[in-house]
Amino acid sequence: MPPIIRMVNLTKKFGEFTAVDHLNLEVEEGEILGLLGPNGAGKTTTLLMLTTVIKPTEGTAFVGPYDVGQEPDKARTLIGMAFQEPKLLWVDSPWDILNWHAKVCGLSAEERKKKVRWVLEQVELWNDRLKSVHAFSGGMRKRVEIAKILIQRPKIAIVDEPTAQIDIVGKHRIWNMLRELRDEGSTILLATNELYEADVLSDRVAIMHKGKLLVCDEPKKLKDSIPGGDVVEIALEKDITTAALAKLKEIPRVVNVLTIKQNQLKIYLNQAEEVLPKITEFFMKERLQVKSIRMSEPSLDDVFAHYTGLTIEEAQRE
Ligand SMILES: Nc1ncnc2c1ncn2[C@@H]1O[C@H](COP(=O)(O)OP(=O)(O)O)[C@@H](O)[C@H]1O
Ligand SMILES: [Mg+2]
Repeated sequence: MPPIIRMVNLTKKFGEFTAVDHLNLEVEEGEILGLLGPNGAGKTTTLLMLTTVIKPTEGTAFVGPYDVGQEPDKARTLIGMAFQEPKLLWVDSPWDILNWHAKVCGLSAEERKKKVRWVLEQVELWNDRLKSVHAFSGGMRKRVEIAKILIQRPKIAIVDEPTAQIDIVGKHRIWNMLRELRDEGSTILLATNELYEADVLSDRVAIMHKGKLLVCDEPKKLKDSIPGGDVVEIALEKDITTAALAKLKEIPRVVNVLTIKQNQLKIYLNQAEEVLPKITEFFMKERLQVKSIRMSEPSLDDVFAHYTGLTIEEAQRE
């Protein structure tokens, strides 16, 4: 089956600044593709080009058979979008917003009545349905935005940070609803800066940084692909010197060392059981007391760090 979304050198510049840089990425029909990257990576800009809200500077994208530049109206018929920053409308209660949205999506009066109630209960806004969204918290507004997609059940659902500012129970509810939507046959493209969300929800994850695609694959394959499959996190009583850090990197089977802080290291290595004694011995010799030591499986953050040298949190702060 041909991909349902195909980006071809998709590029967006704002003046001299390149927000999305020659993106080549395909979304397969029926999958949940997570677009993961720190704030400013270019995720929202990418999604807005796909939904024809903004025009590419260069390159293009195909949504189904439609080129977003040539046939934006047709491309839009396949898409439903939940925006990162919900737009304000002239109607302002969740009840009115969703009824209006359901009407635009072509639902009959009877269907609307049933579905709007159902969705408001699903996102736990039934009791607040007649209040103004202007007075809502960020998380409540997000839930109204997601509810629109759940009513519409579009062929392609594009969701931008769907669970930002929503508590963990609410996140799980929304993830399950998105999974159900996918199981019914929708394709979902999800932008997120949350590692866990990308990991548990996505069939494949595309990692973006500074407008560029770093890599795209199944979460497990991404994690398995990085050299130094074992991760050891070490906290030290005092900061490590540059010289000691260089020596640490020289220890056989140590693949890489990431300094989270000068006294907090992440060591990527192979065959940890064998190397770990050498590492503890090294710190003793260097008179660097180890405060704690923890082994972990590689995460998507480690994949991101492998490509950028930074954790997502560090990249976010940059
Ligand atoms: N309309 C705009 N004008 C100028 N710069 C913009 C505009 N929209 C986004 N940017 C910049 O483009 C970069 C990517 O933004 P965005 O796509 O929102 O990233 P993300 O969604 O990954 O956080 C950021 O540096 C942002 O400041
Ligand atoms: Mg964004």
